Amino acid sequence: MSDKPLILTDPNTDRSVELPVIRGSEGEPTIDIKAVPSKLGYFTYDPGYAATASCTSSITFIDGNRGILRYRGFPIEQLAEKSTFPEVAYLLLHGELPSRSQYDEFLDDITYHTMVPEKLNTFISGFHYDAHPMAMMAGVVGSLAAFYHDRLDMSDPAQRMLAAKRMIAKMPTIAAACYRHHMGWPTAYPPNALNYTERFLHMMFSVPAEVYEVNPVAARAFDLLFILHADHEQNASTSTVRLVGSTGANPYACVAAGISALWGPAHGGANEAVLNMLEAIGDVSQVPTYIDRAKDKDDPFRLMGFGHRVYKNYDPRASIIRTAAHEVLAELGARDPLMDLAMELERIALEDDYFVDKRLYPNVDFYSGIIYKAMGIPKSMFTVMFAIARTVGWVSQWLEQADHPTRIGRPRQVYSGPAERDYIDIGQR
Ligand code: ACO
Repeated sequence: MSDKPLILTDPNTDRSVELPVIRGSEGEPTIDIKAVPSKLGYFTYDPGYAATASCTSSITFIDGNRGILRYRGFPIEQLAEKSTFPEVAYLLLHGELPSRSQYDEFLDDITYHTMVPEKLNTFISGFHYDAHPMAMMAGVVGSLAAFYHDRLDMSDPAQRMLAAKRMIAKMPTIAAACYRHHMGWPTAYPPNALNYTERFLHMMFSVPAEVYEVNPVAARAFDLLFILHADHEQNASTSTVRLVGSTGANPYACVAAGISALWGPAHGGANEAVLNMLEAIGDVSQVPTYIDRAKDKDDPFRLMGFGHRVYKNYDPRASIIRTAAHEVLAELGARDPLMDLAMELERIALEDDYFVDKRLYPNVDFYSGIIYKAMGIPKSMFTVMFAIARTVGWVSQWLEQADHPTRIGRPRQVYSGPAERDYIDIGQR
């Protein structure tokens, strides 16, 4: 049964408009407001787009009230337990789980494209040694368009898919190169006999003077973290990728813009901010002070890794990561006092009326940094880990948009500046 349209009537003019109700495949009702400006002469106002669906997408589903996340219909819990990051990448890109032969072919493809042009390493070496790796990532990924300008005909689906696979394949190579530049280590080339996460860890930590054995616990933990971060529907960085993509810009430019958006501490930069916060708190005895600060409207401090625009229930990714953090620390025989601190912070916050009433729960970033730290990843690289994984989501969403082109993304505004006035010559001001 289809929904009746909503009728919006302007009491000032008595003009009305019928607004169709669209329902997604999970039944969530959405009002189609496209006709409002032309029929009633109004724009709609929704800063932060909290009430606005910007596109139709069949990739990822979130029910924030029930704490549900699914990629292409598959619950995140099942994918986290049974799948691998490359298989999830295939799923997000193509819409279905691969057959054995499709999977092998995809792995071959991704592995084939892991190397970067040698000149890219020269480009990276131009950065100052202490450049933030996210700044380097945005610049380097954007520059790929200059290296692959002969394959930028975005009207060709084969070239679009090639660009998507290139970015998935090269992101770990570029991330490791940025880290090694900071460390002053020589370039590491991708050892293609290893799998995706093993290869990444090898490029990160191997040095020519020694044999480097990838720790299987670390490789599996990264695979899990990459699965959990792979996509999250129309979040800030993905919306950025889509907005830039709507102009017809090349995919490397779109993903570079996505990396920049991800870097913000309200988004993917929160994983680095959480560790900074836990280190600043320092001791369990200080937790109440920081909880009070987070509640104080006159204090800009927020509990990093807490709260989410969509989840008004426990972020399902955070539950999986919390369990994984315990397992990883146990398997590596490591103890991290920051884990105890994080758990105490969570316990107190979840009992506090402020956080309960506002439905603020730990999000994906709350525990991920503790795992990264246990693996030897420096804090400044935490958001880069997120970017490697989210590249799969960005390119999947970009491909979906390119397959079903929409109009250029172009929001309006409520102008609050001066009314028309005449120019005054500088000598008379
Ligand atoms: N600590 C203290 N108070 C908070 C927090 C927090 N972490 N998050 C939200 N609030 C409060 C706000 O002050 C606001 O209070 P008010 O209604 O009295 O004004 C209320 O909760 C709603 O918060 P908004 O900022 O309106 O929520 P919004 O959906 O715009 O923001 C966000 C969501 C950005 C994630 C926010 O919760 C936040 O800043 N969290 C900390 C940063 C973080 O962890 N970001 C990672 C998000 S997950 C990701 O991107 C991967």
